[in-house]
Amino acid sequence: MERVVSGIRSTGNLHLGNYFGAIRNFVKMQEDNDCFFFIADYHSLTTHPNPKDLHSNVRQVLVEYLAAGLDPEKATLFVQSDVPEIAELNLLLSMNAYVGELERTASFKEKVRKNPNNVNAGLLTYPVLMAADILIHNAHKVPVGKDQEQHLEMCRKYARRFNGMYKVEYFIEPTPYNFGEELVKIPGLDGTGKMGKSEGNGIYLSDTPKQIQKKVMRAVTDSGPTEPNSPISEPVQNLFTIMDVVSEPSAIEFFKEEYAKCSIRYGDLKKQIAEDIIKFVEPIYNRIQELSDDSAYLQKVAKMGAEKARESAQKTVKEVREIIGFKKF
Ligand code: TRP
Repeated sequence: MERVVSGIRSTGNLHLGNYFGAIRNFVKMQEDNDCFFFIADYHSLTTHPNPKDLHSNVRQVLVEYLAAGLDPEKATLFVQSDVPEIAELNLLLSMNAYVGELERTASFKEKVRKNPNNVNAGLLTYPVLMAADILIHNAHKVPVGKDQEQHLEMCRKYARRFNGMYKVEYFIEPTPYNFGEELVKIPGLDGTGKMGKSEGNGIYLSDTPKQIQKKVMRAVTDSGPTEPNSPISEPVQNLFTIMDVVSEPSAIEFFKEEYAKCSIRYGDLKKQIAEDIIKFVEPIYNRIQELSDDSAYLQKVAKMGAEKARESAQKTVKEVREIIGFKKF
């Protein structure tokens, strides 16, 4: 079985874009891989979350991933800061990470540009911590979106560099986990671009049916087709893209035909979409409510995950320390 490691950002509620992007694939992945999924709360400190919010952010993310189908019996599900060995490996790897290459990382440059007043060292060494997350479990595969490809490349480089420096074949160079066709990009409801937290155009797994209804009914469309079989505009195509993942094929076909005949009523289309999204989200929504009230269960999950993750992490750190040359008196 291949070992897969993936970090999960510790802030924000999950929207349909997250669900059809990563989460649904994580749920499948855990069936036939040895998965380690963790909530990256050390990483989140680069943006200085309020101490009052840190735990509730992590808790909410844990609740929502569980509600969406991550199974702590199948995957190792843990909180990054419960595994302090990651911090030690981060320190050890940082000795072979060069400041120049870290400064050239695209994500770092972008963060400097966006927040020139918060250029902390944690941001600079973000890829080193991420490499520690991955290498500590000797992962074969890491599911990465476009924005994380460079980070994985750096992880491979640090693995290679460590092996070369100490003349060992210790770390595996992890490769991207390929979702293939499964990765569906969900557009937002504002007519253009993908669904995103900062864009404020999302439908969340924790939205009530009323909220979903309201958001969908307000979705941007156009003034309607004027000639038979005219091309579909971006905002309307976006609604059809959402339909593709939540609606019955017969409903999609019906509205496509209505569009082609210029008799489509966007109000009806939106009603259908809202209904289908609500139906889709409902079981996850209900599970979120249940889990939110079940602190005992969450505690059990986090504890079990931390134990499993630490077992593997302690082994790695022990071996790495030996390779480096640390010895007990
Ligand atoms: N950087 C990743 C993100 O922003 C999160 C992450 C942290 C991660 N450590 C990781 C992903 C290790 C994969 C493997 O989404």
